[in-house]
Amino acid sequence: MTASPGEPVSDIADPGLSEAGRARIEWAQRGMPVLRLLARRFGQARPFTGCTLAACLHVTAETAGLVTALRAGGARVFLAASNPLSTQDDVAAALAASGAATVFARAGVDPAGYRALDSQPDLVVDDGGDLVNTLHAQRPELLSGVRGGCESTATGVIRLRRMAEEGALAFPMVATDATVTKQMFDNTRGTGQSVIDGVLRATNTLLDGRVVVVAGYGACGRGIADAARGLGARVIVTEVDPVRALDAVLAGFDVLPMAVAAPAGEVLITATGSRDVIGAELLPVLRDGAILANAGHFDVEIDTRALAAEAVKVTREVRPHTDEYLLADGRRLLLLAEGRVVNLVAAEGSPPQVMDVSFAGQALVLGWLAAGQPGLDPGVHAVPPGIEEEIARLTLESLGAAIDELTAAQREYLNSWRAGR
Ligand code: NAI
Repeated sequence: MTASPGEPVSDIADPGLSEAGRARIEWAQRGMPVLRLLARRFGQARPFTGCTLAACLHVTAETAGLVTALRAGGARVFLAASNPLSTQDDVAAALAASGAATVFARAGVDPAGYRALDSQPDLVVDDGGDLVNTLHAQRPELLSGVRGGCESTATGVIRLRRMAEEGALAFPMVATDATVTKQMFDNTRGTGQSVIDGVLRATNTLLDGRVVVVAGYGACGRGIADAARGLGARVIVTEVDPVRALDAVLAGFDVLPMAVAAPAGEVLITATGSRDVIGAELLPVLRDGAILANAGHFDVEIDTRALAAEAVKVTREVRPHTDEYLLADGRRLLLLAEGRVVNLVAAEGSPPQVMDVSFAGQALVLGWLAAGQPGLDPGVHAVPPGIEEEIARLTLESLGAAIDELTAAQREYLNSWRAGR
């Protein structure tokens, strides 16, 4: 992508890493057949011709698959990191070098504002709501130019809904997080596997027979609980929602209040989207050697400030992504990834096969928005049902699975109350 005069240019750590990034992206793309197919389709139909797209996403090899597909469709893409710790510098370099996107991402460096907005986007892609927030709070002059966008995570959707309720959201945003396919693949399977992967990479601990406390039995929590149980852990779930808690009980997990579960926990993982789930009040009861990890979007689920205040000594990086907090009574607590999304910081996030489904949904939604949806009000919208079905069909096809079709008689039977038994 050649920069026009006055247009922002890439800000990345090391352009020399582009070859390593290209190899990493190629490996990821092998596992992303649906996005490869969409990139080919977009390359022919060019649905994003003339569109400028600002994206605030984890800058990883899988995200590169989405960027490549959008670019193939004619979009000018400006990509900012949604989390400095998940940025893969080599991928950022490869994307910038290939011209697929202008990239603002350096591992470990907080993005300086969301410079992707300087591109004056007409479409936005957000992950956590920060881009949309910044746009409304700091760049209101750009709002009228934005046709819409999509939000990929539960925390971001919650923030958008609050904005919409207050009449503050200036354009339509599609909640791509809420599709059944995304929840199934990404939040549950992908997050489940990769969160446990993050804990294991950071600590190299054995999970068999260990007590793992999972806070939150939503889409992510259930995947984490299943993955931990699959490795032999004894899993306790904590919840605030009685229906979710009941679901966890039926799945065979112990469900206890956090105050009761925490003293038993050898590994404690938060996945709630809320704050202070492991708060200051729990620090006196946690076991010596307890491993604390967060899977929620923001680093607010474990009260890391309280932990730092209680500690008499903090040893950074006793292993990569593991900090040890020594308390006055001699107990040591191990905080992974500084309390940030452990699967993205200490592991590599959801695998390509998972992100293929999530990003295919976003690519199709963006194509739908780019085609122009004049009746769509400012506010939070569900993914149109046709798109959800298309994602499922394309993914089934890529997995070599096929389904039956209803016969005419079956359709008539299912659609008529007169048909009897
Ligand atoms: P969800 O809304 O399906 O589940 C959250 C669950 O936590 C709900 O059942 C809720 O009742 C429960 N909860 C809320 N406060 C609690 C508390 N104090 N104690 C115990 N349970 C509590 O949301 P989902 O999709 O599971 O996402 C959870 C978080 O993970 C969000 O912040 C989301 O953005 C993030 N996320 C992270 C991913 C990753 O790769 N690490 C991937 C997708 C989402």
